[in-house]
Amino acid sequence: MRIGLLGFGVVGRGVYDLTAGRQDMTVAKVVCLEDVTLPDAQVTKNFQDVITDDSIDTIVEAMGGLHPAYEFVKAAIEAGKNIVTSNKALVCTFYDELIPLAKEKGVCFRCTAAVGGGIGWLSELERARRMQTIEQVGGIMNGTCNYILDSMTRLGLGYDEALKQAQQLGYAEANPTTDVEGIDTWHKVILSSNIAFGVSLDKETVPVAGISQIKASDIANFTEKGYVCKLISTGKCKDGNISAYVQPTLVKQGQPESAVPANYNLITFVGSASDRMSFYGQGAGRYPTAYNVVQDCADVLLGRGFYSPYGEKTATNNTDTLRYYVSGVSDAWLAENTDERWNDAVITKPVSVSQIHAWRKNNPNAFIAAFAEG
Ligand code: HSE
Repeated sequence: MRIGLLGFGVVGRGVYDLTAGRQDMTVAKVVCLEDVTLPDAQVTKNFQDVITDDSIDTIVEAMGGLHPAYEFVKAAIEAGKNIVTSNKALVCTFYDELIPLAKEKGVCFRCTAAVGGGIGWLSELERARRMQTIEQVGGIMNGTCNYILDSMTRLGLGYDEALKQAQQLGYAEANPTTDVEGIDTWHKVILSSNIAFGVSLDKETVPVAGISQIKASDIANFTEKGYVCKLISTGKCKDGNISAYVQPTLVKQGQPESAVPANYNLITFVGSASDRMSFYGQGAGRYPTAYNVVQDCADVLLGRGFYSPYGEKTATNNTDTLRYYVSGVSDAWLAENTDERWNDAVITKPVSVSQIHAWRKNNPNAFIAAFAEG
């Protein structure tokens, strides 16, 4: 396999290092806008140098973002090259266009590193759904948010300091707003739900709340009451109805999610035969993520080209009712739905997921966290 590598940042550099010296695959060319010199690969600033090189059979896309990644990947498929990507925004947004195109052109398209960094989550989810109905997917899917929440809870760090460390360690996206507002997790749970349930979720119907409004006083409240806050994604399918959402969630100390440290992820599916299966590991970072990219290249060499194609466009139905912790604002709706108070914060009566997310859209300074089910 001769690889054209798009991007030489955290993940791209990792792919270059992990493929060095392998007999079965070589990074032949790297597209990088910086001035870099590499001993074993030609570096170019021009994507056309890769696309027109017939000796390159596989493109590894590690640029991130939607544009120009989408244009480059589409052109590469049309030129008959296999695609391996870690770009969750790209696959979440364009998978149902790019997969049929890849099939039409007879090339592979794999994206294991798009969810869970180094965890073989998507590849195992694909195997799981061959045997059974998947009823639920989700968990901790963002290393940056977990790093921030864990550092605030266990080490007493401030939010800004913890975010800065996550950036320095290479966990955060180029624009960390994507991480802390939950968008990265949103992409990941949509992609996971699509593969698990065989649908194409209407993204606009998947609500998301992030952690950017959390304060040290919230963390103190949770610790005092025996809870740990994590950013948790949920995708559920029951009788054809799908719920999917991303939100800070309070788990009881001692539950598996509460103990997940640093940049680690803990992702779970519930299947009709297997019941609950969880996957734990490094959810972000250079070598864990590059490891899954190179694993995908090895799978392409074995002819394992695809995950399931998306199914029908489907809206979610987020009618589950949960209790929520809310801080940072007060208004009439909150007063009507207050069950108890934790210092300055409110604990709501059970409210529907869609209702509180709609309320939060009008109250962007509010911090909300659901109490975990069960
Ligand atoms: N920014 C992502 C995270 C990288 O923090 O999890 C891995 O997808």
